[in-house]
Amino acid sequence: MTAAPVGTGRTIQRVGVVGCGLMGSGIAEVCARAGLDVIVREVDTDAVAAGRARIVKSLERARRKGKLSDEAAESALARLRFATDFADLADCQLVLEAVSESEPLKLEVFSTLDKVVADDAILASNTSAIPIMKLAMATRRPEQVVGLHFFSPVPVLTLVELVSSLLTSDDTADTTQAFAEDVLGKRVIRARDRAGFIVNALLIPYLISAIRMLESGFATVEDIDSGMVLGCNHPMGPLALADFIGLDTTMAAAESMYEEFKEPLYAPPPLLSRMVEAGLLGRKTGRGFYVHDGAWP
Ligand SMILES: NC(=O)c1ccc[n+]([C@@H]2O[C@H](COP(=O)([O-])OP(=O)(O)OC[C@H]3O[C@@H](n4cnc5c(N)ncnc54)[C@H](O)[C@@H]3O)[C@@H](O)[C@H]2O)c1
Repeated sequence: MTAAPVGTGRTIQRVGVVGCGLMGSGIAEVCARAGLDVIVREVDTDAVAAGRARIVKSLERARRKGKLSDEAAESALARLRFATDFADLADCQLVLEAVSESEPLKLEVFSTLDKVVADDAILASNTSAIPIMKLAMATRRPEQVVGLHFFSPVPVLTLVELVSSLLTSDDTADTTQAFAEDVLGKRVIRARDRAGFIVNALLIPYLISAIRMLESGFATVEDIDSGMVLGCNHPMGPLALADFIGLDTTMAAAESMYEEFKEPLYAPPPLLSRMVEAGLLGRKTGRGFYVHDGAWP
């Protein structure tokens, strides 16, 4: 894999990642493993420490499984810098946004990034379901804003969805696609700019159907999940998957899609809302449909 140049001859060597939770930590890790200089922005020093620890743990896991040499793990870590100040992202040629799935938060982040990075930098969002057009309009560079939606665990799953808004330029889309494929080694699928894109448009109704099934008393958590694992050969059942994704993220994605289409199949069921209100967010808080022991992830 090569770090540069990509797409229409642009060089992308310095990448910013905003947010270092489940997804941002994985995105930062794959970028550093691909030889890029990565600067990660989190909200405060505690969040920086937690994000860095997640990356260290993931690199260690890859090393243990023989997927990464000691030297490669060390040099990936050495290519990562962490910050709490947006200004530290000033010289990034591409910024990958992976903050929590909240539209007001992401609008604020895009507006801030627009003021901080160079005029020709590309801004990409990892949003699960928020239309890219909305995020692009928070900037003065909508033609350089694109969706680049990774899947968890990012170092393991090869898919990314590339989403162009009505105003995304071909150069931005092609450069970002070439970056994802040639630099990160990902498989790109292109989706139109509709809430949920391809994968979540199919996945979220499935997950919330399982939650409705549980809520109605129709079947137990274990039987719903066993049904899909053993009956359909899925690697995990829908309730385990929702726990893994995060129930807050699942609900936010459902809300964006419901707002867009007004279809009942996207409406978050009350049980999901109550669990999010209770802080039962799945693996990230230790309890969701299952109790998860051990530090996350
Ligand atoms: N969870 C999944 O499986 C999954 C898959 C694909 C895409 N996504 C999307 O990725 C994004 C992140 O999701 P996640 O699962 O990593 O969430 P998460 O809750 O694990 O992490 C979000 C992180 O964003 C940080 N953050 C919040 N505001 C910030 C700011 N202003 N600047 C910097 N950091 C900030 C938080 O401190 C937190 O660490 C969301 O848009 C989500 O929809 C999630």
